Amino acid sequence: MIKGKPFVKWAGGKRQILDKLKKYIPDEYNTYYEPFIGGGALLFELSPRSAVINDSNAELINVYQVLCNEEKFKKMCKILNSHETNHSEEYYYEIRNKDRNKSTYNKLSDYTRAARTIYLNKACFNGLYRVNSKGEFNVPFGKKTKVNTYEGNNLITVSNYLTMNDIKILNVDFEEAVATAKKGDFVYFDPPYDSDKAIFNSYTEEGFNKDDQRRLASVYKELDKKGVYVMLSNHNTVLIKELYKDYNIHIIEAKRNINSNAEKRGKVEEVIITNYTNNRTFGEK
Ligand SMILES: C[S@@+](CC[C@H](N)C(=O)[O-])C[C@H]1O[C@@H](n2cnc3c(N)ncnc32)[C@H](O)[C@@H]1O
Repeated sequence: MIKGKPFVKWAGGKRQILDKLKKYIPDEYNTYYEPFIGGGALLFELSPRSAVINDSNAELINVYQVLCNEEKFKKMCKILNSHETNHSEEYYYEIRNKDRNKSTYNKLSDYTRAARTIYLNKACFNGLYRVNSKGEFNVPFGKKTKVNTYEGNNLITVSNYLTMNDIKILNVDFEEAVATAKKGDFVYFDPPYDSDKAIFNSYTEEGFNKDDQRRLASVYKELDKKGVYVMLSNHNTVLIKELYKDYNIHIIEAKRNINSNAEKRGKVEEVIITNYTNNRTFGEK
């Protein structure tokens, strides 16, 4: 089976640590839940037949929804072709600034908005997603002379995967997204990172603070009580170590790619926390 891969570059994307994550997934599970889907690196790698995916970023989820609809997907591809052909600095700003006028922006079709999101992601500086307080995308031009919005046939592979399997796509808060998880299901939480110091994490207009990390830890505990397999990745911070001290904390090293400040890039300690052991990790702590 040809597997898809993320169709956008996303802050906190898990492509580089996929092998490490795969080592810790449960041996067997029913429905797969990924409530902070972002670029969906692990979803596409595992390609489960039944999944619930979610993100609070409405523009991102709109792309998944369009990819999941054959007719809309075809229309989006046509627009992507024209974005590729017209690509230039001036054109980038023209497309970027479409969200400055909310009344015309809200009238755009969902597939037009999806094509815009993919194009901006490929053409902007460093694949960042950042909006200002008015919700306007404000990342500058990435200075690429050519953009490839398809990346081979990846979009087709991803669209086929989403349409041919039982994939539910949500745009709610993570807590609501996992409310239906039952014993034997598997939830992978990849929230915005906690930090011992201030770091870039404005994925959406709201951000994600320490109280959200605490709320997530209580959702983790509730799911654990229900018999759901739960895996979570985060930075190895004081708060995270305290919140998950009753579970299996596996320390791994990961290289961060996206940061608004180049000095903050580099190696950071990352943790994978599970409430179970599997055949590969049995006996490890
Ligand atoms: C670390 S990223 C996920 C990266 C993803 N695993 C990947 O491989 O690309 C975290 C995601 O959480 C989303 N997010 C932030 N707050 C949220 C919330 N309260 N509920 C659901 N999603 C949220 C952000 O929009 C962002 O896409």
